[in-house]
Amino acid sequence: MNWNNTVLVVGSAGRIGQAVVAELQRRTIPVRGFDLVKTPGLDDCVVGDITQGEDLKRAATGIGTLIHLAATPDDDDFPTKLLPNNIVGVYQVMEAARLGGVRRLILASSGQVNWWQRTAGKLPVRVEDPPSPRYWYAATKMFLEAIGRGYAESHGIGVIVVRLGWCPRTPEQAQEIASSEWAQDVYLSPGDAGRFFACAAETRTDIRFAIVYASSNPIHRVHFDLEPARNLVGFVPQETWPQGSERVEALKR
Ligand SMILES: NC(=O)c1ccc[n+]([C@@H]2O[C@H](COP(=O)([O-])OP(=O)(O)OC[C@H]3O[C@@H](n4cnc5c(N)ncnc54)[C@H](O)[C@@H]3O)[C@@H](O)[C@H]2O)c1
Repeated sequence: MNWNNTVLVVGSAGRIGQAVVAELQRRTIPVRGFDLVKTPGLDDCVVGDITQGEDLKRAATGIGTLIHLAATPDDDDFPTKLLPNNIVGVYQVMEAARLGGVRRLILASSGQVNWWQRTAGKLPVRVEDPPSPRYWYAATKMFLEAIGRGYAESHGIGVIVVRLGWCPRTPEQAQEIASSEWAQDVYLSPGDAGRFFACAAETRTDIRFAIVYASSNPIHRVHFDLEPARNLVGFVPQETWPQGSERVEALKR
């Protein structure tokens, strides 16, 4: 396995990807990007498709830590969007990581994997609570979590799964959050997202497999139990809705 410091961010040109790249750069951690399009502000980036294994294998060779963000990031047509990007793409990313000798994988899951407990008001939702996936998108994230466990145990790769709160990608989503108390409580600012992934990449704790939640600080009620993220990788959110949401307009592609 590689002890190279370079972190490969797959999905580096997206809403969360750009925040992660910026935070890694701020910490002077070497970073390589991978996305369908070029990543602004990042010279070392591979333009490729996660459904194609060869592009990924090239990018992952010699990499120590891989952060996997690339996906169709919400419910969408299953056969044409979720199946290639969130199922086939996950297979290709996991295989590229294994073949490339990646030591730690950090996988972006979603709070939507335990949706119905949260909407029933049984709060806070904890990692050990049984999942209740919202729909197809959340079901693909269950697949991601499950195969993450399989690769940790079968191949000795350290795997951290993070169930993320809501980091708005559009002004419309930011408007939705502005008008909903629960959405404000699961809000994840780009800054806190960047800090979570940087903490997970930097921690020296020996982790075989773990699932944690990550969001910014809730305002009204705690929806996600953030203690495991604090204990495991030292992540403590620094922002609260609407801090950081003004940057929604600023996403460059
Ligand atoms: N933003 C949120 O609220 C949120 C919440 C929970 C989980 N997540 C997860 O976090 C991750 C990042 O989400 P985001 O909000 O930054 O989404 P995003 O759409 O802004 O970014 C996703 C990136 O992945 C890239 N991508 C998609 N398909 C690809 C492919 N086939 N090959 C290469 N690159 C591809 C896109 O070009 C894009 O840059 C996703 O896995 C998403 O499911 C996001």
